[in-house]
Amino acid sequence: MEHPEPSSTRRLTMRKRAASTPDPHAFSLHDLFEKDKLQNFEEESEVFKKGTTRDTKSVVFSLRNEVDSLTQALTVFRENNVSIGRIESRKAAHGNDEAECEVFVDVECDDAKMTQVCNLLKKRLTYQQSVQESIDGADALCQLEPPEVYGMPWFPRRIGDLDKSAHRVLTYGVELDADHPGFKDPAYRKRRQYFADLALRYKHGRPIPRIKYTEEEIKTWGTVFTELLKLYPTHACREVLENIPLLARHCGYRVDNVPQLQDISLFLKDRTGFSVRPVAGYLSSRDFLAGLAFRVFHCTQYIRHSSSPLYTPEPDCCHELLGHIPLLADPGFAQFSQEIGLQSLGASDEEIAKLATCYFFTVEFGLCRQDGELRAYGAGLLSSYGELQHVLSSEAKKLPFDPAVTCNEECIITTYQNVYFYNESFDEAKEQMREFARSIKRPFNVRYNPYTQTVDILHNPQQIANVVNELKGELCLVTEALRKIRSGDENNHPDPHQPNGVA
Ligand SMILES: [Fe+2]
Repeated sequence: MEHPEPSSTRRLTMRKRAASTPDPHAFSLHDLFEKDKLQNFEEESEVFKKGTTRDTKSVVFSLRNEVDSLTQALTVFRENNVSIGRIESRKAAHGNDEAECEVFVDVECDDAKMTQVCNLLKKRLTYQQSVQESIDGADALCQLEPPEVYGMPWFPRRIGDLDKSAHRVLTYGVELDADHPGFKDPAYRKRRQYFADLALRYKHGRPIPRIKYTEEEIKTWGTVFTELLKLYPTHACREVLENIPLLARHCGYRVDNVPQLQDISLFLKDRTGFSVRPVAGYLSSRDFLAGLAFRVFHCTQYIRHSSSPLYTPEPDCCHELLGHIPLLADPGFAQFSQEIGLQSLGASDEEIAKLATCYFFTVEFGLCRQDGELRAYGAGLLSSYGELQHVLSSEAKKLPFDPAVTCNEECIITTYQNVYFYNESFDEAKEQMREFARSIKRPFNVRYNPYTQTVDILHNPQQIANVVNELKGELCLVTEALRKIRSGDENNHPDPHQPNGVA
């Protein structure tokens, strides 16, 4: 796989923590890569946070092996009157042979000054990579381990990291466009503010707040629910038809009840390991896809405006609960979704755009062939009364899904799509996306560890050997299970040609 890092000679990552005293347990930069030390450091940082108001921040950057390169870097701190509390260095562990040395610097200054220093470092050291300027100490240390993630776009490594990205709502948090049906309705806008505040306050691991939906909201939901369920038997895929009754039984999917995200999250957890978390509006493709890597689906909790129950210019809970949730309760689809998410971690902006387009034409607008006829599985179709009928009509253009072609198609959000794509099965789509993922230029691969709810970066032979060992255990289980099935078959259906067989 091609190494994606451009020929930058220096890279820089910044971390931030609050502290007022010198670090009493200073250790070498090399030690920072050791997990036990990392744990100590995190705990220690927490103590500092509680006991002080001054800001200590840290910067990590790489230097080319040139005379005065370190002096140049340190001059930036001196010129900005930023005192250095600690400086350590080590030989660069990264594969970039131009970067000979990595330097770790602790400084005390405010955010504005830190930004200024970072900008100057980037400018003077010809820094070319993205910088994580808002991550806390623990996250930055995760960034340092392993070095392969240097210079890559930031991505969550632990499920709790989604707390950071879930708040980066791009549009429709509370601001509505002038053509939004609720734009001129102050009560609706106030209600949207309420939902946005709830979502922005949410933290991983907490129960999702239950909503007391108004009569008007329940009526809107009821209209959408009733109309769409009329179409599902003839338009929706098998998985939706199987799971809607389960959702009715376990999560209160009814015409007179808006299901609660907390109930849905628990239901999904039992079925496929997915969970949902509330979000105030649109996330970037990168942040949204990253959630899928952890089997977390960012889900809106508000409802579209009552004036147009069968139209919404944005995702709302009708779209999420009727379009997405029934599929996320299917194991095959859940895996398909997670794999797209894993493929997105650390991908370039261009690659994210391609993955997001494939996601759009599958998870949002995809069709699959079942029992000889096309059915909808895309959430955008399953939650749109008009488009669900249109897509299966002869007027809609439909092509076989091919990621290399589909990724260049235009995504349309205001009207019906120009073209839709279909698969023979989710497994087929999964295989195609796996093949497509090979084109993503990442110097490592990632794997989700469900026990620790972390993303493991597979970057050295030992880590890969550990995975192989785990897989061996799984293979043993499968082999033994197959053996038992075979032996059961033989016992139940004795060979008629054997002495004790029945002819
Ligand atoms: Fe959606």
